[in-house]
Amino acid sequence: MSQQATAIARANIALAKYWGKSDVGLNLPAVSSISLTLEPMRTETTVTFDAKLASDEVILNGKPAEGKAKSRAIKVLDQVRALAESGHKARVESANNFPTASGLASSASGFAALVAASWTAAGLKRDDVRWSAMSRQASASAARSIYGGFVELPKGVPGDAALAAREVAPPSHWDVRIVVAVANEGAKDVGSTEGMTLSEQTSPYYRAWVECSDALVEEVRAGIMARDLTKVGEAMEQSTLAMHACMMASRPGLIYLQPATLAALATVKRLRKEGIEVYATMDAGPHVKALCHAEDAERVAAALADTQLVLRTLVAHPGEGLEIRT
Ligand code: DP6
Repeated sequence: MSQQATAIARANIALAKYWGKSDVGLNLPAVSSISLTLEPMRTETTVTFDAKLASDEVILNGKPAEGKAKSRAIKVLDQVRALAESGHKARVESANNFPTASGLASSASGFAALVAASWTAAGLKRDDVRWSAMSRQASASAARSIYGGFVELPKGVPGDAALAAREVAPPSHWDVRIVVAVANEGAKDVGSTEGMTLSEQTSPYYRAWVECSDALVEEVRAGIMARDLTKVGEAMEQSTLAMHACMMASRPGLIYLQPATLAALATVKRLRKEGIEVYATMDAGPHVKALCHAEDAERVAAALADTQLVLRTLVAHPGEGLEIRT
């Protein structure tokens, strides 16, 4: 007998950034973060528990996963098996419709979908708070992809295994756009988990980053509630650049920005000068994600697509939280 479920999760982009952990074992963030869940950047994951399988199989975008990607997925399956008191091995098939492991937060939608699909396949009842907490243990940004719209993951007090994200406002609250300027399709050099540990241990700006983040999170949250793009955008840019300053001052330096990143940032600045409200953010990768009003998205996308070294653009809008396909 086999038990199967399919879940769809969307990627998310942090408007107030997470970088650093207060408890590595439980994967608790040292700073609070606020994100926007993105449609149509989706991961679709099917989990099948099958008594006939001798070991877990993990297929990512059509290829068998190896190493860390596989072991992190098996850790989630083990947690779900312990809860469901099941010993069956599983087949996991997961696919993204956007570039994997390049700073577009595929681990966020990936782990959110994996937690929800394996939980449901094991016959457990839907529980968004526990899904978020379990996703957070796999990858903290994944906790935010359980919910739609604007989502906050509070910083964690060491030992708080149950820490979960929560909705700040639903997708219908504010019709903004994120225009992604794709700078490079390859995988990044240093993953977020490793990069954060390095920053914490070696960056002289790590303390300053943690200290300035509280005020920026407050500003982003207040700006979202007031639908004030200037307020959110300015705080988001400072959160992004403070995080990158902390990354860059690590030893060895973590430089995720590439020539295409800087070119796209110059375009965003020029558009602002021309009177378009648009602000930029970057994660642990070279892509620039530009936040703007819905009515300006086409012009922003055209200007970014025209920018030297930018490969292509994608436009996203506020998306829903986790969906189970029945
Ligand atoms: C720069 O959630 O990938 O994208 O918890 O170690 O898996 P782990 O890290 P991850 O970090 C994301 C960092 C970021 C900023 C953000 O999304 O808030």
